[in-house]
Amino acid sequence: MANIKLPGLIDPHVHLREPGAIQKEDFQTGTKAAIAGGFTMILDMPNNPIATISPQALQEKIKLAKDRIFCDVGFHFGASKESIQYFPKIKNKVWGLKVYMNLTTGDLLMEDDKILESVFSSWPKNPPAGGPIIVHAEGDTLGKAIALAKKFGNQLHVAHVSLKREIEQIKVVKREGMNITCEVTPHHLFLSEEDLGRLGPYGMMKPPLESKDNQAALWQALIDGTIDMIGSDHAPHTKEEKQGEKPVYGVPGLETTLPLLLTAVNDGRLTIERMIELTYTNPRKVFDLPEQKDTFVEVDLGESYVIEENNLQTKCGWSPFTGMKVKGKVKKVVLRGQLIFDGQNIFGPYGQIL
Ligand code: NCD
Ligand code: ZN
Repeated sequence: MANIKLPGLIDPHVHLREPGAIQKEDFQTGTKAAIAGGFTMILDMPNNPIATISPQALQEKIKLAKDRIFCDVGFHFGASKESIQYFPKIKNKVWGLKVYMNLTTGDLLMEDDKILESVFSSWPKNPPAGGPIIVHAEGDTLGKAIALAKKFGNQLHVAHVSLKREIEQIKVVKREGMNITCEVTPHHLFLSEEDLGRLGPYGMMKPPLESKDNQAALWQALIDGTIDMIGSDHAPHTKEEKQGEKPVYGVPGLETTLPLLLTAVNDGRLTIERMIELTYTNPRKVFDLPEQKDTFVEVDLGESYVIEENNLQTKCGWSPFTGMKVKGKVKKVVLRGQLIFDGQNIFGPYGQIL
């Protein structure tokens, strides 16, 4: 029925887990999940067990990813006290600097004001070198991130906004002309704290699922332009890890993001034009990403299906959206003129490192 063509989508927030946590995901499985979900370009986060906070760690990722990726992959660098010295060296090899200002998976938390000042003042401010500073800054921490970026003149990108008050704060500084953008995850748009009982550990992530009130504010901001893009925050963990004693935070999202957004298009909550801005135009502009020639995704806007675990490419093999009925299916993905997904099978690897 209604087949439509989209550009190859871009996900600026993905945890591919290699090296160090390949029981959860690796470059092959993670980029296959991207392709099956209509993403031809993704940016990988630095919070691996050996974090991407040195030129050697970055080089190791590039080496491991080479010839094994099914979509194009770029890397973000991690901020730490020790990584500041490497900023000049790696700035042309990465697409953003991730600063963790709240506790989450990995050991990159930064709370010391002096070190944070040093990070913000040292990151290059002459775009495109290095890209924006991406902050994980929930709730109260967001004000601190904004103040630092204002003080040192950084381009600031706020990862996974989830609260009405974060939206309001961003709206104010955007109006003042600050160089700030933000993203929202599909799980904060399509799930709320009301799903927590049902999902248990599979509904645990940072930032946590929120109230319906906060969720409504995110939808409003998605439409009015305060939110610039979707970031899946694809953060797979194994079922064993999820069900273990110690809580682990994060959910996979690469394969479910587009079908969920297409469902919203079908429901009249989102236009296809706005969806393309959120998943292609804006991430490409904000991160200054290259064009992928002859690259597109074909979706059937009229095809419904139920999200099932055994149809997923991600190594973790589960989704917080399992059992959900969606309308809008990826039928075909072409990368640089080459068929890489026919709706069933993935061909490649034809991905390049950005
Ligand atoms: C992420 C992870 O598991 O790496 N977890 C999460 O809950 N989002 C880390 C992060 O992005 O905060
Ligand atoms: Zn993340």
